[in-house]
Amino acid sequence: MKRPGPKARPEDANRQTSAELGPTQHWDPERYARNARFVADLGAPLLTLLDAKPGERVLDLGCGDGHLSRTIAASGAEVLAVDASAEQIAAARDAGVEARVADGEKLEFDSEFDAVFSNAALHWMTQADAVVAGVARALKPGGRFVAEMGGAGNVARIVNALVAGFDRRGLDGAAAVPWYFPDADEYGAKLRRHGFTVESCEIIPRMTALPGAMADWLATFAETFTHRLPPAEREAYVAEVVAALAPDLRDSQGNWHADYRRLRFVARKTLSPDGLASPPAAA
Ligand code: BEZ
Repeated sequence: MKRPGPKARPEDANRQTSAELGPTQHWDPERYARNARFVADLGAPLLTLLDAKPGERVLDLGCGDGHLSRTIAASGAEVLAVDASAEQIAAARDAGVEARVADGEKLEFDSEFDAVFSNAALHWMTQADAVVAGVARALKPGGRFVAEMGGAGNVARIVNALVAGFDRRGLDGAAAVPWYFPDADEYGAKLRRHGFTVESCEIIPRMTALPGAMADWLATFAETFTHRLPPAEREAYVAEVVAALAPDLRDSQGNWHADYRRLRFVARKTLSPDGLASPPAAA
C-alpha cells in the first residue's frame, strides 16, 4: 500500500449530512446491475446470518435494486425494502419486491420488524446515530439488526487516489468523501448506546475481484467526486485515478480488484429507547 488509509472521520456531530456534501450519487439500475452485481452476490453470508424465517417481517435497509430482498422473501419472510434512490426502488418493484423510497437517516417505523437487514448501504448514511436510532425504533423488542457495510480502511487506496486527484487541482478532496467507514469499536459502541446487545461485530478484509475495469467502478460509485468537476475535466481526472491505482489494484492479467474491508455485525434490541429492558416478544 502506497499511502496510509484515510484518517477516521469525526463523530456524527461534525460530519456533513448527505445533502451538504454537494453533488450526490445517482443510481442507474442498469449500470448498477452491470458493474455491481457482485455486491449482492457477496452478501450471501449475511443472508445466512440473518436466517429469516417464514412469517417474520424484515426491513431491507438500502435495498438497491432489491436483489437480496427477493432472496429474503423466498425464505417465506415478509420483506419491506427501502432505499433513498427512486430509480433503484422502481427497479426493485419491477422485480416484484414490496419497496418504497425512504431516507435511512429518518426512518419512521415503530416496533414493527423482527429483523432489519442491510448490505453495503450503511456507509452511504453519514448520520449514523440517526440511522441506528431509527433501526432500534423500527425493531420489535428482541429484534435483530444484521448488517454489513464498508469498515475502517475500506477501499482506502481508491479513496486516497480520488482525494489526491482533487487536492492536485486545489480542491478539498477530503470534503468530497461521501462515505462513513467506522471500525468495530466505534460502531459497536453506537449500537450499545441505542439499546442493542452486540452479538458479533468484526472487520473482514476482502480484496474483491471486479467484473470490469476500475473506471466502471468509479463511474458506478464515485459521482460525488466526478460530478464536482466540470464535464470537460472528468475524463482526465478518472484516467489519473485509474493510473494511480493500477500498480496496486490491477493484476498481471489486467484484472482489477477493489480493497474492500467489511464491517459485519449482528445486534439485538434489548433495551427500549427509555433504557428499559425489552425482552424478546413471545413466539
Ligand atoms: C462498499 O460497498 O464498500 C462501497 C461501495 C461503493 C463505494 C464505496 C464503498
